Amino acid sequence: MNLLILGASGSIGKQTLDVIRKHKNIFTLTSFSVGERVEVVDELIKEFKNVKHICLKNENDYLSFKDKYKDINFYFGDLGLIKLIEESSFDMAVNALVGFVGLVPSVKILKLNKTLALANKESLVVGGQIINHLLAEGFGQLYPIDSEHVAISKCLGVDNQNVEKILITASGGAFRHLNREQLKEVTKEDALNHPTWKMGNKITIDSASMMNKCFEIIEAYYLFNYSFDDIEVILHDESHVHGGVKYKDGYYRLDISKPDMRDAIEYALFKKQIDYSTYIAYNLNQTGEYHFHTFDMKRYPLVKWAKVVIEHQGTYGAVLNASNEVAVNAFLNDEISFLEIEKVIDEMMHRHINTKNPTLEHIIEVDKLIRIETISYINNLRRNKN
Ligand SMILES: NC(=O)c1ccc[n+]([C@@H]2O[C@H](COP(=O)([O-])OP(=O)(O)OC[C@H]3O[C@@H](n4cnc5c(N)ncnc54)[C@H](OP(=O)(O)O)[C@@H]3O)[C@@H](O)[C@H]2O)c1
Repeated sequence: MNLLILGASGSIGKQTLDVIRKHKNIFTLTSFSVGERVEVVDELIKEFKNVKHICLKNENDYLSFKDKYKDINFYFGDLGLIKLIEESSFDMAVNALVGFVGLVPSVKILKLNKTLALANKESLVVGGQIINHLLAEGFGQLYPIDSEHVAISKCLGVDNQNVEKILITASGGAFRHLNREQLKEVTKEDALNHPTWKMGNKITIDSASMMNKCFEIIEAYYLFNYSFDDIEVILHDESHVHGGVKYKDGYYRLDISKPDMRDAIEYALFKKQIDYSTYIAYNLNQTGEYHFHTFDMKRYPLVKWAKVVIEHQGTYGAVLNASNEVAVNAFLNDEISFLEIEKVIDEMMHRHINTKNPTLEHIIEVDKLIRIETISYINNLRRNKN
């Protein structure tokens, strides 16, 4: 199977390369993109001989690589990602880009009737309606790459009858042992220190703020069509139980394994056709060595926005994502405090007047406008502090 990886230099991208290495006789890498970490390109070209198309983020990098490798087609920028998708020969694309930049490529891949292995959760948060509409119209196929959604998919695959709720576990991120008062003082170095998963910076901050769980609830809604009230989040210390389902008779079916994203990637690349085991538990305490805690919305208030996005849809997902991306960036640049991430997002979501059933073009416009508004709001916040 010919594969395209968008975001080959990132955490998911690199782990996808490991999965390809493990199954060399099944998967062939034919094309990939990287952003600014172009130092990986020479090595990848050397190792994966069938690569014929590569997209880079910046034009200068594009110009120098184009001269160096005459028999490879290079592209650059956001439009380059689309050209890469159009020109290269692949059966499945792994979208491991981070942020809004992943949405248009996801839509393009499906429109070309190709298979999308989707790690870029922002695609569903922002464009879930558009993506589901394409799938319903018969365009392409989608397999999520997120440990919780793979877990739910596995459990539903065994038995989807009598399911009362689907279950998403949350490690609680870097600040799981802190109360809200203590959160006032935390730094970006603290936030980037995730207890169990080694991931890209943006998702690591999203895990600490619980925006990642908020996104995962929205993702679960679009993937499995359960209402907000039927998606249960539970805190779980060890990150070994990735998710599952709760049946009407009180039993749970769970997916349990060591935290390793390569398992989730493999499940998607093999289009679910892979051996796996799920576990039945009478109650969660029965699993003994694992620890679970009730999820407290007051401790993690950002998660409330999942309900708004799911129940109103439209452009709310775009606002939630754009304000979050700008706020996380500002936090990483020491411009706002950790708790101000919430303040910024709350402000943008409260201000927004929703548009129902937006087109992709309208979503792109909203994303741009909200970024400008969010930056301006952050600048005001900073001015008022000084
Ligand atoms: N990491 C995980 O364990 C995990 C688990 C579940 C879901 N996810 C989701 O998977 C996605 C990727 O996460 P990650 O942790 O792998 O992120 P990451 O390590 O930051 O990697 C992101 C990739 O996207 C590229 N990129 C970023 N902005 C770009 C732009 N404007 N144009 C072109 N390329 C761009 C980066 O390129 P450069 O670095 O070269 O600039 C990199 O290759 C996210 O949506 C995340 O929520 C991640």
